[in-house]
Amino acid sequence: MKLIGPFSQIITLAGIALKGAVKDEQLEIINNAGILTENGKILQTGNFEDLKKEFPNAHLEEIEGKNVLIPGFVDSHTHICFGGKRSRDFAMRLNGKTYLEIAESGGGIWSTVTNTRKETQENLYKSTFENAQKLLENGITTIEIKSGYGLSIEDELKMLRAINQVKNNSKAEIVPTFLGAHMKPRDFDGSNSEYLELLVNEVFPILKEENLTNRIDIFTEQSAFSVEDSRIYLQKAKENGFEITIHADQFTPGGSHLAAEFGALSADHLEFSGENEIKVLSQSDVVATALPGASIGLGMQYTPARKLLDAGASLSIASDWNPGSAPMGDLLTQASILATFEKLSMAEVLSGITFRAAKALGFTDRGSLEIGKLADFVSFPTDDFRDIIYYQGQLKPNGVWKKGTRIS
Ligand code: NIG
Ligand code: FE
Repeated sequence: MKLIGPFSQIITLAGIALKGAVKDEQLEIINNAGILTENGKILQTGNFEDLKKEFPNAHLEEIEGKNVLIPGFVDSHTHICFGGKRSRDFAMRLNGKTYLEIAESGGGIWSTVTNTRKETQENLYKSTFENAQKLLENGITTIEIKSGYGLSIEDELKMLRAINQVKNNSKAEIVPTFLGAHMKPRDFDGSNSEYLELLVNEVFPILKEENLTNRIDIFTEQSAFSVEDSRIYLQKAKENGFEITIHADQFTPGGSHLAAEFGALSADHLEFSGENEIKVLSQSDVVATALPGASIGLGMQYTPARKLLDAGASLSIASDWNPGSAPMGDLLTQASILATFEKLSMAEVLSGITFRAAKALGFTDRGSLEIGKLADFVSFPTDDFRDIIYYQGQLKPNGVWKKGTRIS
């Protein structure tokens, strides 16, 4: 048993609903606080001196100075396994070139596929591990990572094996997702639906055999996979017992309806969700995931986060870190920026990068500092939790704990 503290404040995020708008007044704030952990879980939170008296045998992990403790962050959507970079795409975008023009001149997703195919599994493992390490140092204790830049059976498996190597070696918890349905590879001789069939017949069984992932993602978009093709693919995924997440409504609406239809864990992007999509999502248990890093990277409108919350949806905020649309990879900065444009309360931002993001990955055991939950938490050098959002990502964590063990 271990008692960690004292902290100026502990923000537990306890008792906040999974769905809907949240007021800052709903945040539970414990002043002069301590947290008691055992076997990687939370035993108790409360006043530090009281806990010290009540549990005199607990091992003390003393914290000096002014610090605020909050739950470890969850980044529920990343593409941090990739080869190469796309600064050339970025420059072209700044010069007004369209997505299509960039793709036709050798950029876009396909250029990352070409570079990822050149990398060995070991190299991908190393670069992905480093990216995960950067996230972990920024307080992200659970990280989702997608494949989707291999787009051949062999290269998708290479990516997933590399991601699973990271899972086995990182101190952060890694959640791998299969995104073979990112786009039809240019060298595939057949239709979109034939490509998806190949994934179902040839890759799904190996995902199971090798226990590589239980999550399937698809880019449902006019320029990638139509709603009709996606539906057939997702039906197969469901029949095979996979969890579902969708890249939805990024440029045109459609994917969010499928997410509701299939009971997906999450629908991500949603920049082009309209009233109808907002209604459908809010009436479902699908977590709506905003990816402000992609809006910033592409110069596009933000996900209508305010409207989604007011309609009653659950909102997660994730980084979408990838070499194309979202190269920044800084969740806290992006979430803070989204908050200013969308008028999100601090409580909504914090919920969106903790327990609501966890729900987008199917976890209910983390993301708030409550008895029995995982002892994943992060401290910031301040005595006022509002500084964490106020400094827009520039106030960095000075302590990160995973399952009760301090790892940075
Ligand atoms: O989430 N929208 C599709 N996929 C990625 C971008 C991939 C890329 O440009 O490399 C996204 O933004
Ligand atoms: Fe993405």
